[in-house]
Amino acid sequence: MESCKSVKPVIAIDGPSGAGKGSVSRAIAKALGCRYVDSGAMYRAIAWMALHEGFDLDDEAAVLALAERVELVLGDQSVTVGGHNVTSAIRTSEIDAASARVARIPAVRDVLVRRQRSYAGASGLVMEGRDIGTTVFPNADVKVYLDASPAERAVRRASDPAHGVGVAAAALSDVASALEARDYSDRTRSSSPLKIADDAVLVDTTGLPLDSVVKKVLGIVQQHFKRGCS
Ligand code: DC
Repeated sequence: MESCKSVKPVIAIDGPSGAGKGSVSRAIAKALGCRYVDSGAMYRAIAWMALHEGFDLDDEAAVLALAERVELVLGDQSVTVGGHNVTSAIRTSEIDAASARVARIPAVRDVLVRRQRSYAGASGLVMEGRDIGTTVFPNADVKVYLDASPAERAVRRASDPAHGVGVAAAALSDVASALEARDYSDRTRSSSPLKIADDAVLVDTTGLPLDSVVKKVLGIVQQHFKRGCS
């Protein structure tokens, strides 16, 4: 398979929470030698910083001003906002809910979309999110939409060590309800709601182990390269 170094593709991986986007995107980026970016971590970091500074999340102007000015650094394995390493702190149920609220503010989305676009270029890119194939990179080389049944997504989310804080101890039904509420918020917001792009390939990961999903997605990327990256 060709690597990102020679082709520098943009690969968009979208889908709802718990569909496996993080693990799959990281594995695809590693296999291809591309940069991996978790766009959801950016919404989470802004939400964390807003709460840290004591902002009311309904104060859209304050949250926007924060998104415009704050330094946000996505490392390979770390997230830093305003000089705070928030890698683990943004994976709590409080930030799950707060980031969904921040993600509903159109002007904040515009700021983060601009930042997300700046990651394309130097090397190939695998970016995961909700609107990567529809809004951030409508001309992405490859668009994949990962989905899974709500029950399986809740089980995955409840057993995700990255979301250990506040979620691991919660009953599965609580995790499922929180997931459902966030899905609803992501799918119904006015600006760039979660939806499958017309030209995305849908991969239903229900019942599939991670390595099978990674193989499927790499197959989709390979098909694209075979067709001459058109
Ligand atoms: O993928 P995640 O759960 O870490 O995302 C956190 C929140 O941000 C979630 O409510 C979805 C939202 N989000 C978004 O609206 N657009 C993106 N590109 C990525 C995440």
